[in-house]
This record gives sequence, C-alpha cells and structure tokens, in this order.
Amino acid sequence: MIASSQRIFPKAMATDIDSLRQDIMRRAQAAVSLDIAYIGVANGLFAALDEIGSASPSRLAAQAEMDDAYVIRWCDAAYAFELIDEAVDGEFQLTPLGRAFMPEQPGTLMPFAVQSMLSSHMSERAAGLMRSGERPGERVLGERETILPWFGPMLEHQFAPLLEKQVVDQVPTFRAVDERGGLAVDLGCGNGWYLRTLARRCPHLRGIGLDGFDENISQATRLAEQEELDKRLNFAVGDIHNFHIEEPVDLISMNRALHHVWDEKENVFRILREHLRPGGAAVIWEPNWPARRSDLRSPARRGMAFQNLSEHVQGNHFLRPEEIAEQFRAAGLEPEVHFVADGRDVIVTGTLAA
Ligand SMILES: C[S@@+](CC[C@H](N)C(=O)[O-])C[C@H]1O[C@@H](n2cnc3c(N)ncnc32)[C@H](O)[C@@H]1O
Repeated sequence: MIASSQRIFPKAMATDIDSLRQDIMRRAQAAVSLDIAYIGVANGLFAALDEIGSASPSRLAAQAEMDDAYVIRWCDAAYAFELIDEAVDGEFQLTPLGRAFMPEQPGTLMPFAVQSMLSSHMSERAAGLMRSGERPGERVLGERETILPWFGPMLEHQFAPLLEKQVVDQVPTFRAVDERGGLAVDLGCGNGWYLRTLARRCPHLRGIGLDGFDENISQATRLAEQEELDKRLNFAVGDIHNFHIEEPVDLISMNRALHHVWDEKENVFRILREHLRPGGAAVIWEPNWPARRSDLRSPARRGMAFQNLSEHVQGNHFLRPEEIAEQFRAAGLEPEVHFVADGRDVIVTGTLAA
C-alpha cells in the first residue's frame, strides 16, 4: 500500500520539495523580520531605544509613547529576529541590525521595511481586484494610515544619494541649471527631496513642488523649513493635469511621476512644452522597463516586475525609454536618454531649443 504523500510526491521529488521548503522558509523568515522592523520604524521604537541605550519593554513603551502590552510582544519578536538583544535580564538594547533600521542612520535599511509592508498591501489589493479588473488608482497608497507618512522618506533614502552622487554629474541639464540658478518645478514631488537636494547645491535656485497628496506636501513644507530652504522652495497640493504658472521655467522634473499620468500624456507634454523657457529642459526620471522579459529575472530588477503589478492597481504601468523620448519629440522638445543605477533607471531629458 502506497502512502498518499508518496503518490503525490514520488521519492525523487520528495527531496526536491524538501529543498524548496528550506528555501521558502528562509525567504519567509526574511519577510517576517522586515515586518517586525516595519513596526519598529513606524512607531519610533528603534530611535527610542537608541536614545535610552538599554531598557525594559515598559520603559521603551513610555519613551516611544506606545502601549505597554504591544511593546512587550514586539520586544520578544524583535529579540527573536536579532533586531534587539537582551542587555541584562529583562532589558533590551539595539543590535547592529536593529540600529541599521533607524531612519536617521546614513544608508538606513528603513526603505526595505517600508517597501515590504507596501508590497504586502498592494499584493492583497491585487489579489482581491484581479477577478473584477477594477483599478482603484492613487488612493490605494493612502489606504494604510501607517504607510503613507513613510512613502516620502522611503523614496528619499533610495534616490536622493543617487541624485547627488551620479545624476547631477552625469546629466548635462543639471550642470546648466546649477550654473544659472533659475526656477525648477517638480511635478508629483512627493516629500520634496529632489528640490531640497538641488537647492542645497545651487544657492540661487528657486523651486516649486506640486503633489496630489496633502501628507506629501505637509512633509515637503516642514522639511524645507527645517533646512531653511523655505524662502526658495514652495510646495502646494495640486493636480499635474492643471498645473500652470506665468513665469517661464528652467527645469521641470518628474521623478517616478510620469507613469502616473501617462494616460493623459498629450496634455502632460503640452504642459511641459508651454512652461519651459527657451533653452530650458524637462527631466523625466523613471524605472527603465526592460525590452526583454528575461532581464526581469536579474535580482536587481525583480522588484520592478512586482512594482509594475502594484502600479497596475493604481491605474499605471512602467514605460520604455523610447516611449518617453518619442513623446518629447512629438511635443517639439529634443530628447536625450541617460541610464543610471546600472541601467535600472533612466533619465530622459527634453530640451526646448534656445
Ligand atoms: C512614485 S511617487 C514619486 C514621488 C517623488 N517624485 C519622489 O521621487 O519621491 C509619485 C508621486 O506622483 C504624485 N502624483 C501622481 N499623479 C499625480 C497628479 N495627477 N497630480 C499630482 N501629483 C500626482 C503622487 O502623489 C506621488 O507622490
């Protein structure tokens, strides 16, 4: 008599399934450790523990202004996953891994925890919507109240270093704006990191940022004030499709925002064209959706394949660089394509003839 498990998995396959199980268990544990880290990030637990050095869960709860009973349970989980260690009996301190998730830490691992939670939320939405085909749009980002405030910081930590270290030097348009100052507009500006980074480099640059989410604009305004850039940078809630100002603009940027408004691209490119001063440029920064599906298998690009599914929920999809360049040409702007981040991202500029 053959046991039913043997019928389903013949002997050779049983070994395969064992090694697959081991592999998936490792991945599942990694995912859970990011979940626990996310709870610590979202509630300031890493920062609070860092401030007091070593503490009982109750003392940590008081420091972070969180509920005692929840923090006791979190400490056990964070201890199990080596985010915190027991210093003396019943008191905890950060491990190097826990400290690396502190949002203030240079090179912080915080974006991984936030991205992981956002991915879970988007996966659940995609799972529920696939039958009907409904695409609820941008609002899904705001459905989880703890995630939205971390959206801006996540993107800032992921991309601001790249702007400073690579993009500004590699893309000639930035050098020109750097030299002459002038007015920069960032459409879909998130928490305003892009304009703050440029304004720190260019002492004469003025900037206007526009975004559809109140939360992003209040963060952008507060952060510009903190850095004393608020005299040169202004942020406002608004819709890209209705953007208008009288003053001609030297640089119009859209960072990971064009694919959000691609459905109405003719209107968007008209807005870009009409607002640029002669010699000015629009600078579009987007993930570089590969021409070959096999490229999506590379570990550096897999995340993008998942993100494109979550973009679908929001009513968007990622773009090929040629599509963007083609649209610039159609609008009467001269396109140039620059690959950054080892080809994962692309910056397409469109310059209006001087
Ligand atoms: C992926 S985020 C990028 C944010 C920011 N540019 C960055 O790099 O951190 C896309 C942003 O575009 C904004 N957005 C999308 N459609 C918009 C619209 N029609 N009007 C204004 N903002 C919009 C969203 O609110 C979101 O902040």
